[in-house]
Amino acid sequence: MTEGQRAEASDGSRVYQAGRDVIVNQPAPAPPAPPVWNLPPRNPNFTGREDVLARIHEGLSTSVVSVHSLHGLGGVGKSQTAIEYAYRHRAEYQWAYWIPAEQPELIPDHFERLKAALGLPATADLRSVLSAEPGWLLIFDNAERPGDVHEHLPVGGHVLVTTRNTGFGGLGRTVELDALSRPESVDFLRGRVPATTAEQADRLADVLGDLPLGLAQAAAYLEETALPVEEYLTLLDTHESALLAEGDVPGYPHTVATVWGLSLQRVARQEPVAVAGALISAYLAPDDIPLEPLRQAIRQDDPRFADATADPVRWMRAIGLLVKYGLVRRTGDTISMHRLLQAALRSLPERMGRDRHAFAKSALLVSFYNLTDTTLPPMSHLLAALSYTRFAGGQAVEVYRKSAEHAAKLYGPDHALTRRLRRLTE
Ligand SMILES: Nc1ncnc2c1ncn2[C@@H]1O[C@H](COP(=O)(O)OP(=O)(O)OP(=O)(O)O)[C@@H](O)[C@H]1O
Ligand SMILES: [Mg+2]
Repeated sequence: MTEGQRAEASDGSRVYQAGRDVIVNQPAPAPPAPPVWNLPPRNPNFTGREDVLARIHEGLSTSVVSVHSLHGLGGVGKSQTAIEYAYRHRAEYQWAYWIPAEQPELIPDHFERLKAALGLPATADLRSVLSAEPGWLLIFDNAERPGDVHEHLPVGGHVLVTTRNTGFGGLGRTVELDALSRPESVDFLRGRVPATTAEQADRLADVLGDLPLGLAQAAAYLEETALPVEEYLTLLDTHESALLAEGDVPGYPHTVATVWGLSLQRVARQEPVAVAGALISAYLAPDDIPLEPLRQAIRQDDPRFADATADPVRWMRAIGLLVKYGLVRRTGDTISMHRLLQAALRSLPERMGRDRHAFAKSALLVSFYNLTDTTLPPMSHLLAALSYTRFAGGQAVEVYRKSAEHAAKLYGPDHALTRRLRRLTE
């Protein structure tokens, strides 16, 4: 997703999302979007979390502590809560900026983009500008280690950090996010699927451990198929997923894997190329996956999908199916896939007797195509795809050499990333 598209999506325009295209609802009267605002679109189905949102606001606005970390399991709703916080309080900020922090070597690049978005000259010292002009919100999403963020922390504004890991207490306050409460889960399910009774919603929430990610997936399936909830519950209970099995998502109720498996099977029956697209996407960074390079990579690598990928309209319809089943979210000409679904999908090829490196290599191809699009964060997909790919001998050297060349062009020959890639070729 480009910043322009994000700004557009966040401004009440059309967002492609599970089950239907929706218009993002905003509380009335809607404050105007700050000029610099690259957050993902607001979730119109956001439910609950009032206590956490209030605690964050209270902490950020009344205490001297200006950093809040949201900590919890994958899929529990940390990123969503951070996004919701920003939209609720957007009138209080001059601007807000979203920084994917999972790949710490790319954080400086995001700051360079922020500098450009703020209209500052390349020579400006961003930190001193930020501390001189408070009233901003920075969100570091999915930080791995406190040090990755600490190194870049500006002062003067508000900072939210989302992380699956502990140990962020040293940066400021930490809020622990748990699964939704049962009434919240029931509210969410009945809001999305009105035919659900309170008792059915309660049972469904129970088998999904109240995990928002699983609830959202189940709701998308029910919305799309109009299957009665009772039948879905029976399916979950009896289904031996040929795709994803118990233990694929460690630490989660196995039904979370089953809900994905059921959705993937429906998509596979209607348009197998969509599943191929999803499998390759699992080896890329989770956000801003560019659709056109994905189509081209499948076209080049997999002759079985020659017809499906030759026709861009059919390809977009296939992607539309993934969106309808809540497996990806689409904004403009990119999609996002939840990182937990990515992890589950990466465990698939082996079970199917397929070579996972084939998918990882296609992902690498996508990331190379993607490098020509200067509107997207350039190296995130390449770094992700490289981390999942094992090449033998000369082939590896060639891939790393090409990657290092790209990095040198984008960041200069002495950038840490360029040097790291170059070392791999030695
Ligand atoms: N409060 C909520 N109301 C409705 N849906 C929610 C809520 N919180 C999360 N979700 C749903 O759950 C999904 C996962 O949430 P989110 O991406 O915020 O998890 P996360 O904790 O950031 O996970 P990760 O650590 O893997 O990044 C969202 O895409 C959304 O569909
Ligand atoms: Mg997240």
